[in-house]
This record gives sequence, structure tokens and C-alpha cells, in this order.
Amino acid sequence: METKQWRVDNFVDINDSCPQISQAAALLRAGEVVAFPTETVYGLGANALSTAAVKKIFDAKGRPSDNPLIVHIAEFAQLEAIASIPPVAKTLIERFWPGPLTLVLKKKGNISDAVTAGLPTVAVRMPAHPVALSLIRESGLPIAAPSANRSGRPSPTSAKHVWDDLHGKIAGIVDGGETGVGVESTVLDCTTDIPTILRPGGVTKEQLEQVIGRVAADAALTDEKQPPKSPGMKYTHYAPNAPLVIVDGSPAFFQQLIDNARAQGKKVGVLTTSDRQTMYRADVVFACGNRSDLSTVARQLYDTLRAFDETDVNLIYSESFPTIGIGEAIMNRLKKAAGQRVITES
Ligand code: TXA
Ligand code: MG
Repeated sequence: METKQWRVDNFVDINDSCPQISQAAALLRAGEVVAFPTETVYGLGANALSTAAVKKIFDAKGRPSDNPLIVHIAEFAQLEAIASIPPVAKTLIERFWPGPLTLVLKKKGNISDAVTAGLPTVAVRMPAHPVALSLIRESGLPIAAPSANRSGRPSPTSAKHVWDDLHGKIAGIVDGGETGVGVESTVLDCTTDIPTILRPGGVTKEQLEQVIGRVAADAALTDEKQPPKSPGMKYTHYAPNAPLVIVDGSPAFFQQLIDNARAQGKKVGVLTTSDRQTMYRADVVFACGNRSDLSTVARQLYDTLRAFDETDVNLIYSESFPTIGIGEAIMNRLKKAAGQRVITES
């Protein structure tokens, strides 16, 4: 199929009636899948009320059908038709929506079982992106949308990433430029006594706790042997083609590892930050944000992982980052990309 592309100006077009968004919304209403920007990563949207439309998402991505999708809405009124809303969810919504927080709630109404993989719960969020909001509003539908990457690849933070993974397989891509947060939303289960983080993301644990007090983290996030409560967390993810290994140690220890691998004939890539870029000698050294502000690392993480695929390295060593604030989400994604391989300096 031909994949249409529309370029929109996030701050001008969407204040008026915007023909690009109208065309994309018409395709969504017609049961097609369309990629669109959100504040976290690009999503691959379809009508959440239509099983046939939702199945096209799974086909295009090559996604296992037991991995449920997030329903995206543009107005609070849409939520009441989809899910039961406990008081804690109301409090969180008032503080964090629109924004990178997905709430897992008891499902009600006519969301397709294909969206929820047959679970009694549904994950919902209201994205903080003018294009996403305007597209959802204009479609008049709740929109099911996973990240718009081929399953297993790093999530897309630009329309080019979506094109590289999915062109020919989806009806269209709304190009709203690069996304801001760079890692996906936080998934919070609000059906447990203490709300539980199933996936760390754009809203940090610290931010949640300031508003609702104690927040738990799914045991699977710290113990690989525990089965995750969020089905998507069990799959390999975000991985570049070359094997990735995280290095937890000093720059001198890091350089020693690089030298050893190169002595064995490996072409070594390094994922570091701009403040350390000149410290390392390797075949490719990419700077991903700056260590002094971890939000810059989050923003560039997936683009940097994808960039290694354009090189001929056959081993990638990555810096480790402190797991505070957004660092929690960064390390969660990096560890998944690395298949949990971490070398720690003794
Ligand atoms: O930032 C984001 O969340 C992006 C943008 C596009 O909104 N979306 C995204 O979707 O990351 P996806 O499909 O790549 O990840 C959704 C995660 C998966 O780990 C999935 O298993 C989990 O949410 N999930 C969805 N519904 C669930 C449910 N009912 N219970 C538990 N986990 C659920
Ligand atoms: Mg994803």
C-alpha cells in the first residue's frame, strides 16, 4: 500500500482547520492505521472500537496479539465510556493529563478485545501533543496506538523512524517533527490497592508520589525472574542490530573494555554523552544528550540506538545512568536493549 505523508506545523496549522489532519482523521474513521506524533514517541493509531482496524496495527508492526494497546483520548468525557475511574485516577488525571502517564483501569463499554488482549482492564492516556489531540478530536474516536515501530525495534521519535520501519504497510504518517520526551509514557496500574508502576516513563515515580503518596513498582522491574504484569514488558525491545552491553564503571574501565574488544578484532561503538564524548577512542562514538540533564539523554536515546544501525560496528558499549527521575526509564529501556547485559567495575 502507498503510505501518505503529511507535514504539519505543530503550532500554526492545528489552531485552524487543518487539511492534513482532516485527511488523516478520515482514514482513521475508514478503519485504516495512521502514525502520528505524541509528546513521548510516535504512535500507530486505529479506531479502538473496531477489531478489524486494530488487527491492522498488529499486522503492520508484527506485534504478538497478547500484548495490549493503549487507548488515546482527547477529552475526559471519552474516558467515562471506556473505563471505571477510581478517585486516585481522578487525582492523577487532574495533575498529569494531558501528559505521559497511562492509567490501567477496569474496562467497560465497547473497546475491542483485540485492544486489551482479552484483559478485564484497559490502558488509557491523553497525550500532550497538539497534533495528537487534534487528530483524535477530529476522528471522533478513541484511538488505540502502540509505538509506531516494527516490533522489537527502538520506538520512533521522528517521522523518518516510522517511515524506515513501516512504509508500505500503513495508510499514512502525520509528520509533526521530533517528539519531546523521547521515551514512552509511564504505565500505572490503578486497579491495585497501592497504584503500581508497570513501566517507568515520562512521569517519574517521584512526581507521582508527590501527588498520591505511596506508589509501588511491579516486581518484574527489578527482578528478571518475575513475570511482568504488563504483557509488553516481557518482550525483547528497543534493540539495535549489534549487541549492546551496558558498562557501569569509570571512563578508564570503559576504555579498557573497548581496547580489549578492538584487540580481538571487534568494531566497537560507544553510546556516551556530549560531556564525555572526547574521552573515548573507539570505532564510533555517539553522544546522546548530556549527563547534567538526563531529560536530554531520554530525548535522544532511541535516535542514537537507531543511528548505530547505519554504522558497521558489531559491538556497542553504553554508559550507565543514575536511576533517579527520568533515569529510571532510560535504564529500563537500555537494559532491555542490552538483553540485561551489564558489566560492572569491581
Ligand atoms: O508513550 C506511549 O505510551 C506510547 C505513545 C504512542 O502513546 N505508546 C506506547 O505503546 O508505548 P506500546 O504499545 O508500545 O506500549 C504499551 C505498554 C505495553 O507494555 C503493554 O503491554 C502495556 O502498555 N499495556 C497496555 N494495556 C495494558 C493493560 N490493560 N494492562 C497492563 N499493561 C498494559
Ligand atoms: Mg512499544
